Amino acid sequence: MKKLEVFGATKLKGQVRISGSKNASLPILAATLLSNKKIYLKNLPKVKDIETMILLLKSLGSKVNFVKNKNIISIKNDLKIKTFASYNLVKTMRAGILVLGALLAKYGKAKVSLPGGCAIGTRPIDIHLKALSDLGVKYKIVQGYVYATAPKGLKGSKIRFPKISVGATENLIIAASLAKGETILSNCAIEPEIKDLVNFLNKMGCKIKWISKRTVKIIGCKNLSQISYEVMPDRIEAGTYLIASALTEGDIKICGIDPKIIKTEIKILKKIGTNIKIKNNEIYVKGNKSIKNIKIKTSPYPGFPTDLQAQMMVLLCKASKSSIIKEDIFENRFMHVAELNRMGASISIKGNTATIKGNIKFNSAELMATDLRASVSLILAAMAAKGKSKINRIYHLDRGYEQIEKKLKKLGAKIKRTS
Ligand code: UD1
Repeated sequence: MKKLEVFGATKLKGQVRISGSKNASLPILAATLLSNKKIYLKNLPKVKDIETMILLLKSLGSKVNFVKNKNIISIKNDLKIKTFASYNLVKTMRAGILVLGALLAKYGKAKVSLPGGCAIGTRPIDIHLKALSDLGVKYKIVQGYVYATAPKGLKGSKIRFPKISVGATENLIIAASLAKGETILSNCAIEPEIKDLVNFLNKMGCKIKWISKRTVKIIGCKNLSQISYEVMPDRIEAGTYLIASALTEGDIKICGIDPKIIKTEIKILKKIGTNIKIKNNEIYVKGNKSIKNIKIKTSPYPGFPTDLQAQMMVLLCKASKSSIIKEDIFENRFMHVAELNRMGASISIKGNTATIKGNIKFNSAELMATDLRASVSLILAAMAAKGKSKINRIYHLDRGYEQIEKKLKKLGAKIKRTS
């Protein structure tokens, strides 16, 4: 099994360019199933989850080709798309469930594996299914599969999500794009990745409009056009490098991301004493020796993202006093805590709240990664610790961070992959 060896302590220095967003690419790839015209996609990150989504599309019958050194892909859907998404492909990546809305909208039926639980929580899809049934979908769940049909086609409706869900908002926007008539979705997630999906769909010819902060109106359409679309940059990757520089007392420049979409993260980092300057859309971030403690909670966008909670926790171990992080999105997203405590951190958990003692100096250690963002938090802690750390089970990391070793090495980190 592959491992990462990290030799600390390092102060990161230099420039890093942010890759395309994984969480924007996944729903956009699923939404390509709505069209039979050729679609070109640029700026997809080369990470495992994207490979898995492409395999899923190919298993359904999509023709996917790489153009120009794999930077651009073209997708064209065969006229005979299968409507069966197998467990093998959906089990490793929850976003596989996003093909459900597209298949139902285009073909009126789908058999899609339930994504199942995962390390960070049970992650049900009840909100997706209830909202799809409001569009006229009949479904049953048998032996781990959702069998869904829309015998009379999808019909527009007024739906209020009972809870803000990124995936359910995406699945429903995709499904309603081809439904008959008008759909109004309220209490939507408004993550920038959802706005990117809407931009992509509208460019294909869909009629989607935000009518208030969390409400979107979709008028079903029939004819979609051939398009080329560039996926937005990855704000979670950008946030990870911001925190990495703050933690290692680094001095780095982050390019290729609109600072406006990570406003909350920048504000919080500034508040605890990180020097951040924005010039010509580039972010200059300089870490300080001492940082202040803070109390934060994760929440849907524009709040602080759960996908940066683990990384932020590592940084707060350095604060002058105790900090508090409340995890309000997932019930079990503190898997990194035990490993960080083995490195010398002093973090205690009560329910969904972590208390992080400050003034910690990390020790190097042999570590086990448990999920995508937990993996990267261990790399951060290892870069701040003196000596050699080994991180096992790094396949989680490869699901979502493009060329992380290469990028960190360029910033001066001593990191290598071994088997
Ligand atoms: C997406 C992101 C993930 C991020 C998360 C929250 C992708 C591919 N993944 O995941 O990186 O951490 O948003 O920002 O974009 N829930 C239900 N029933 C449902 C759906 C969700 O109870 O039908 C719950 C979930 O268990 C969770 C909360 O709602 O507690 C939010 O989940 P959701 O926003 O749906 O996350 P994902 O779309 O799975």
